[in-house]
Formats: sequence, structure tokens, C-alpha cells
Amino acid sequence: MAKRALILGATGLVGGHLLRQALDRPDYGEVRALVRHDLTEDHPKLRQVNVDFDRLWEWGDEFQAEHVFCCLGTTRAKAGTRAGFERVDYGYVHRAAQLSAQHCAEHFVWISAVGANPLALFFYPRVKGRLEAEIGDLGLKRWTVVRPSLLLGKRPEIRLGEVLAAPAMQLLRPVMVGPWRKYRAIRAEAVAAAMVAAANGEPMASGLDYRTGGPYRAMA
Ligand SMILES: NC(=O)c1ccc[n+]([C@@H]2O[C@H](COP(=O)([O-])OP(=O)(O)OC[C@H]3O[C@@H](n4cnc5c(N)ncnc54)[C@H](OP(=O)(O)O)[C@@H]3O)[C@@H](O)[C@H]2O)c1
Repeated sequence: MAKRALILGATGLVGGHLLRQALDRPDYGEVRALVRHDLTEDHPKLRQVNVDFDRLWEWGDEFQAEHVFCCLGTTRAKAGTRAGFERVDYGYVHRAAQLSAQHCAEHFVWISAVGANPLALFFYPRVKGRLEAEIGDLGLKRWTVVRPSLLLGKRPEIRLGEVLAAPAMQLLRPVMVGPWRKYRAIRAEAVAAAMVAAANGEPMASGLDYRTGGPYRAMA
């Protein structure tokens, strides 16, 4: 039977790749995207649903899908405040995971970040780590979290931090081996492909850090 994919964040860098990859797969009969801005894509399998992410529970029925992919996220600069960042990167993703659990999604797949840790000194990895810890306890049938390092890809806007970090990461790439491999910059489409592969039980991009399945355990 054809599966249904639900994507949150399909207007973003990783989410956009994931949307196109899911639409290209014959095993998805419907690809649903929850958005706050209209998508540019048009496809017979695509169903766009405009939502208010602050009231996501009102669209709970949309979570009746085999695979739910969450690629939501903002930056501290875009959000304006720490609370604004947490509202999206923690609150919206947590709510999406809750709704996926309630509607018995087969697999919930989301993006965190390398080094995520609820005990981290810095704010960003701490928020991501807290979310990882809590999603593991929501009773999802199956979950996978991918934890990329710097994302590479074309964005409509310039993010100075990413522009400056990319060449430095390229220089360091040869020494990022063994346990350091997960810190290599990675193309956004490779992350999207790994997420789709994870949901479908296929091999994922090597080098990408991820966790899957059972209850969350603190990272070493
Ligand atoms: N950038 C990196 O190098 C990096 C590294 C590791 C992990 N990550 C994580 O990877 C994830 C995806 O990153 P990305 O670069 O693909 O993200 P992105 O291009 O910034 O896209 C983010 C998505 O989230 C949505 N979104 C943002 N704020 C929202 C809000 N207030 N309400 C509703 N939707 C909102 C955006 O929708 P609109 O189009 O409507 O704004 C967009 O669809 C994020 O969680 C990020 O933290 C990023």
C-alpha cells in the first residue's frame, strides 16, 4: 500500500530537498506539507496545508501518516530572542512529535544538531539535546533523529556564520576522521536523503550522526 509522508519545514533548506525526494519516490502515494508560506512546488501527489504552528494541535488529523519528517528550525538572529528560538526549535518540534505519537505514525524523523546535549554549556546544543531527551519518552512507535554538523546548500538569504564556517570546515575536513567525522559539513540534500532512508529502513549516509529507535540515552 502506498505510504503517506508528512513534512514540516518543507519551505526550508533540508525540508525542500526532502519534499522533492519524497515526491520522487513511488512508494509515497501522498506527500503532505504543513506550511505557513505557500510552496513553489506543484505535484499531483503534493497536498499543502497552511497552518498556524502556535496552534498545531488543531491540525492533529493531518498527522495520520506513516512517516512524519520534521525539518523545522530557526536561528537565534531570526527569532530575535532565546524564547523565540525555543518556541520553534523546541516547542513546535515537540508538538509535532506528540501529535505523531497520538496518531500512531510509524516513524517520526527530525533534525537536531551534532553535539546536542541537554547538559551542554551552550544554549543551542542544550535546547536540541533537551528536545532529543524528551521526544524519546513520548511513546512514538519509532523515531530517528539526525544530528548534522554545518549544513551546505543554497539559501535565499546569506547567513554570515555559515558563509564563514564553510571554508574553515573544508580545510579541516581531512583531519575530521574517526570520532570527528560527524563534525564534517554535510550537504543538505544528503541529510534529507538520510532522513527518507531512515524512515524506509534503508542505509543512511555514512558519517552522519544519528540515533534511532528506543528510549533516549544521554550521549557519551
Ligand atoms: N544551519 C546549519 O548549519 C544546521 C546545522 C545543524 C543542524 N541544523 C538544524 O537543521 C534544521 C533545518 O535547518 P535548515 O537550514 O534546513 O532550516 P531552514 O532552511 O531555516 O528552514 C526552516 C524551516 O522551518 C520553518 N520555520 C522557521 N521558523 C518558523 C516559525 N516561526 N513558524 C513556522 N515555521 C517556521 C521555515 O518556514 P518558513 O519558510 O515559513 O520560514 C522552514 O520551513 C534546523 O532545526 C537547524 O537547527 C542546522
